[in-house]
Amino acid sequence: MGDNSSNKSNSKSMMSSEPNVLLKEPTISKQKLNLPPILKPDKQTKTDVYYTITAQQGESNFNNGPATKTLGYNGSFLGPVIQISRGQTVHIKEVNDLNENTTFHWHGAIISGKADGGPHEPVKPGDTKNIKFKVQQPAATLWFHPHPNGETAKQVYEGLAGLLYVTDKQSSKLSIPKTYGVDDFPLIVQDRTFDSNNQFNYKKDYNADGTLGKNLLINGTLNPYINVSTNFVRLRLLDGSNARNYNFRLSGNRTMYKIAGDGSLLTKPVAIKKLQLSPGERAEIVVNTSDLKDGTNLKLIAGGMNVLTMKLGERTGNIKHLPKVLKKMSAVKAPTGKVNKEKLVLSGMGNMVNINGKKFDPSRIDIHTKQGEQQVWTIENKKQMMNMIHPFHLHGVQFRILTINGKKPPIAQRGYLDTITLNPGDKYQITFKFEKTGIYMYHCHNLEHEDEGMMGQVKVIK
Ligand code: C2O
Ligand code: CU
Repeated sequence: MGDNSSNKSNSKSMMSSEPNVLLKEPTISKQKLNLPPILKPDKQTKTDVYYTITAQQGESNFNNGPATKTLGYNGSFLGPVIQISRGQTVHIKEVNDLNENTTFHWHGAIISGKADGGPHEPVKPGDTKNIKFKVQQPAATLWFHPHPNGETAKQVYEGLAGLLYVTDKQSSKLSIPKTYGVDDFPLIVQDRTFDSNNQFNYKKDYNADGTLGKNLLINGTLNPYINVSTNFVRLRLLDGSNARNYNFRLSGNRTMYKIAGDGSLLTKPVAIKKLQLSPGERAEIVVNTSDLKDGTNLKLIAGGMNVLTMKLGERTGNIKHLPKVLKKMSAVKAPTGKVNKEKLVLSGMGNMVNINGKKFDPSRIDIHTKQGEQQVWTIENKKQMMNMIHPFHLHGVQFRILTINGKKPPIAQRGYLDTITLNPGDKYQITFKFEKTGIYMYHCHNLEHEDEGMMGQVKVIK
């Protein structure tokens, strides 16, 4: 139940409402992984950078069939990588060339409620919105996607999503793979079904408990491979699916090293054998290939399906070994003094999903709090007859986990995060501060649940 990427029927006994659309083996031969282009700034000064991002319609060729109608940012499917660095002031011109309302949400960014692009900030067809924010967070792989009220899932499914890379001085000095497309690759993992006309048919495939597709698309590529020419390879994974959870591992049960979660590097590389991601979550892993022969095909797998083939060629040593320390971070501890405490209970399924018994109401503020105030929130996925995973996401902040079911989080989850996977019965305590003011959403990142109203609003004032 925890892994609906599995193509074997699930054997766990608890009743599960997880929709079970099985992934299919690709019929198309291996294709070179698409690399989203790095967006060129419109203008750049010492302190400021200016970008334009346009949501638009297009057509994409994913397979040998007819073109598929899709949506994209500055292109026909997905979007470019926007690179910003800590300390910079970023100006983004958001253009809506679609024929429906959209918003531009900066998932994981520490940003004011006004610029964050929640459902209360719609941009109408033909309209433009300008936002500006100063980058005040550490190096991380963030992303952006639409968030219009009730229409998020459909717009993401049709192709709207892109990556936002934050860099900082400290991480630029680290000896880790960081050459885009050479030893540092983004992997946006999504599942989509092609109908008999080779189209995405969101309405037809819609499921209130999460729309699942039959084919894996990685950066929009079916059955992708990369040529590997260095000993160490960094993979920046984003679960950009509407609802599918993945358990990633390497072929041969090879060890991989997790170096980052959603919002920051970890203190040190953590050796792992498998990695779970739910919708909205990111993780960066490094693979050491130095002991493998030229010509080896190393595979990243999820639920028995090939996610990526790494074709190992003759390799050069880009780095000798991973650094012992990636980032200095103090241990997380419960704040003392004045603390605002909240409790959120996620429950239900299908169109009954709710938070604390309520559905999203744009005219209701669920939580009032202050900028800079210490926060401890308890998030619980209530165990019920029917159980589902709910990925919980909070806008405008990066938080850290205090406890998971009363225990300290594992080392691999001790960095900054904006999304957590709650299995049925899980209870997390997270701590953070709102650095900015405005109205922010918190919600389940199963996009169908979000659209069904599994979302609330927090208003942060000075
Ligand atoms: Cu990535 Cu409110 O979402
Ligand atoms: Cu949910």
